[in-house]
Amino acid sequence: MTTHATSSDRSLGNLTQFEYLALNNPLNLADGHARQELTPGQAGIIDELPALWADSVKRPVEEVEAAAHRAYFELLGQRDYRAADSQVLSCYSSSVAMEIFARSLATVTDSIMLVHPTFDNIPDILRGVGLRLVPLEEEPLHAGTIDREQLRSVGCVFVTTPNNPTGRVLSQQRLAELAALCAELDVLLTLDTSFRGFDPAAHYDHYAVLNASGCRWVVIEDTGKLWPTLELKIGWLVSSAHAGLPLARIYSDILLGVSPLVLSMVRRFSEDAAGGGLADLHRFIAGNRAQLRGALAGLPEVRIIDPDSKASVERIDLGKRSALDVWAALRDQNVFALPCQKFHWARPDEGDHSLRIALARPTATVAALTKALRSVLLDSR
Ligand SMILES: Cc1ncc(COP(=O)(O)O)c(C=O)c1O
Repeated sequence: MTTHATSSDRSLGNLTQFEYLALNNPLNLADGHARQELTPGQAGIIDELPALWADSVKRPVEEVEAAAHRAYFELLGQRDYRAADSQVLSCYSSSVAMEIFARSLATVTDSIMLVHPTFDNIPDILRGVGLRLVPLEEEPLHAGTIDREQLRSVGCVFVTTPNNPTGRVLSQQRLAELAALCAELDVLLTLDTSFRGFDPAAHYDHYAVLNASGCRWVVIEDTGKLWPTLELKIGWLVSSAHAGLPLARIYSDILLGVSPLVLSMVRRFSEDAAGGGLADLHRFIAGNRAQLRGALAGLPEVRIIDPDSKASVERIDLGKRSALDVWAALRDQNVFALPCQKFHWARPDEGDHSLRIALARPTATVAALTKALRSVLLDSR
């Protein structure tokens, strides 16, 4: 028996409940997980799984884990992840890493500043451990001034970069400035970089910047958004030596470790990506994005909200149309996207007129969504 919400429900509690509705449908453009087809190189790795299994059984877990770290972090330019006695904890997913982080944080503070908007399971997990959330808007974060007194009043500042759903990336200079401020005010700096793989602007070495600043930091990395590995993925919970949180202890309350087979598979997918697969993925997402943008161009009151985004999701401003009405009209044709209210965790009405479309899908799926969305938008002018 499933406990997932029913499709008649327009007032669901969170984004994941909207995503459940789409899971069994071929035209699922709701969740941000990777669901495109395997490339020939990736299909070759899946064919190798029995050999990877045998190899993973033979080798010490520590060795399998270190090889997976190296391949993944270096693929994305994160060479300094091991410097200065940092710690890397492997979790089943980034949400599990997030839960461990949140429980740890709640032992040392009661408040956190969090980027706004962002994927709602981040505020939900933080609220779930009793933390008070203070919104940090993207404008002051990326281009303006962060309120020092507000920052001083919290125990941690949390930034999703690239952000979901906006795709905005914290530049190297802005990260250095924020890290310096956190060092000065003794505020923990935490990053969720789950969408890092899609945008080369997020491939500068964040760990070098964080280590150089002297701030206390935590980073949550995620292999699950990049490759269509049927939810076999790793969330890495990385922290500075002096982060001041009981991460390892709380990790041990929850899990012993992740599967060496999954670690080995992540290593092989990383190697494939380093050998050209990542550039192919970028081209693939850009192609799906161009197709969607091209088909929506010229529709009255329809606008691409994040023209510079390279993330595997696209936000569309629907003008006066209600996102829930458009979502429901698409759902009636068995096509699923996400209305954006819940991303705006502090002020949900800011998402009343926008829709998020997942782009890590087969191109034919994006084409079918595009066709349905065009007709819904033309009908609802
Ligand atoms: C920025 C971000 N972090 C974490 C997660 C959670 O990922 P998972 O469901 O694989 O745990 C998501 C989910 O989409 C996300 O968008």
